[in-house]
Amino acid sequence: MKREKEKQVESEPKREGSTKHYLTGKEARAIAKANNKEMRRLEKEKRRKVPMSAYVTQMKDERNILEIEDLHSYFFTDQGVVKAVNGVSFEVPMNATVGVVGESGCGKSVTSMSVMRLLQGPTGQIVSGSIRFKALHYKRDEAGKLIPVYERDERGEIVYETQVSKDGKVVTKPKQKRDENGIGEYETEERVFDIAKMPMQEMYRLRGRQMSMVFQEPMTSLNPVFTIGNQLDEVTLIHVPDATKEFAKKRSIEMLNLVGIAMPERVYASYPHELSGGMRQRVMIAMALACEPRLIIADEPTTALDVTIQAQILNLFNELKRKINGSILLITHDLGVIAEMADYVVVMYAGKIIERGTASEIFHNPLHPYTQGLQKSKPTMKSQVEELFNIPGNVPNPIDMPNYCYFKERCTKCIKKCSGEYPQMVQVSPTHYVACHLYEGREQKDGNGRE
Ligand SMILES: Nc1ncnc2c1ncn2[C@@H]1O[C@H](COP(=O)(O)OP(=O)(O)OP(=O)(O)O)[C@@H](O)[C@H]1O
Ligand code: SF4
Ligand SMILES: [Mg+2]
Repeated sequence: MKREKEKQVESEPKREGSTKHYLTGKEARAIAKANNKEMRRLEKEKRRKVPMSAYVTQMKDERNILEIEDLHSYFFTDQGVVKAVNGVSFEVPMNATVGVVGESGCGKSVTSMSVMRLLQGPTGQIVSGSIRFKALHYKRDEAGKLIPVYERDERGEIVYETQVSKDGKVVTKPKQKRDENGIGEYETEERVFDIAKMPMQEMYRLRGRQMSMVFQEPMTSLNPVFTIGNQLDEVTLIHVPDATKEFAKKRSIEMLNLVGIAMPERVYASYPHELSGGMRQRVMIAMALACEPRLIIADEPTTALDVTIQAQILNLFNELKRKINGSILLITHDLGVIAEMADYVVVMYAGKIIERGTASEIFHNPLHPYTQGLQKSKPTMKSQVEELFNIPGNVPNPIDMPNYCYFKERCTKCIKKCSGEYPQMVQVSPTHYVACHLYEGREQKDGNGRE
């Protein structure tokens, strides 16, 4: 059993008395000084030039595509350090959908932005932890050039072809393998990168091609002055070596077709404002899929849409996951969406994971009082009650988190221990974990936490 460590920022100044709602001038100056020092250090770290060996690593379990371990992502604000993600660990297995749930402000988006390395610096920073991602990486030779895949005959020998060069010379060269569109193939290999340690300028290798993100509001992600076609083509042109404009267009139309757009040619030539919200969201998904990424991160992909379109988009995700053999990290506060889509569920509360397990474990045997509350607050067709259940109370102030269980002030099942240390993560089945004092000493007894 691992003890969750409370990560203290090296120079974080102490606030005098957590009940106080204002800062003295002296405290504000001390916070600004400490923040500046820490932000400068982390920004420098992001821009440093290091060899690939500094961020190439191994997966703990080869069946995973993503492993997040003890991730701490903070915002250095004038009021103090907001520990938005405070020691989060979970995995995304290959070909699986992992749903992340939790109420507003619990750190779902900051977790996903950390994986994409899109936290807005200098205030937003990954402070520590690992984000291991298994990428299909283009191999390069010593000069940093991509290595072509050559055609081979039945005996395994490289096939050569003669060509006339620009200056009229006849040259014999190995023949590069090409796909049905005439695009040359290059050698690839699986490599595990620790995204948290990767220099920012290397992230382009992964974003878009290996992992892509679908945001809640497509209008903020689409550029209003370019056509949908321009924006979709660009993804292919950037990420597929040797891609031509014709190939990019063909691919863009294929993707628009794939996401169920009836007149792809027309949408291709349209500007974002000419499309409905549902169409724009489909375009965003097409864009996220243009390079067949291994991991799609969808942050509230359907919240802005009405229910029929929502159902269509979710079906689309399921279908696409099968087609491209990818994994999905699905972030939402809608338990209905999670129930329909997810294989595994991670429940977050105030920057920490308080429970995780298979979808069936979380829905049929929720253990943490917060998860039980979330279940009760889900409206159902059968419920006769006039008012929806809500979990009373609020999340504690993110700048001044207590050192006992963060849910204590709202919990109806408190025991004496709950005033003590923050509860450790207890494993109650091979896949089910919960951070609550009620389950300590009940590890894996009967697989569901009961004795
Ligand atoms: N730019 C920022 N500056 C300071 N604090 C921030 C910033 N962005 C997010 N936070 C804080 O980080 C915490 C986590 O925010 P996050 O956006 O991840 O929540 P969320 O779980 O995605 O919520 P929602 O369901 O509303 O999208 C919140 O307490 C929020 O106030
Ligand atoms: S640790 Fe205690 S306060 Fe926290 S959720 Fe469990 S019972 Fe409630
Ligand atoms: Mg969010």
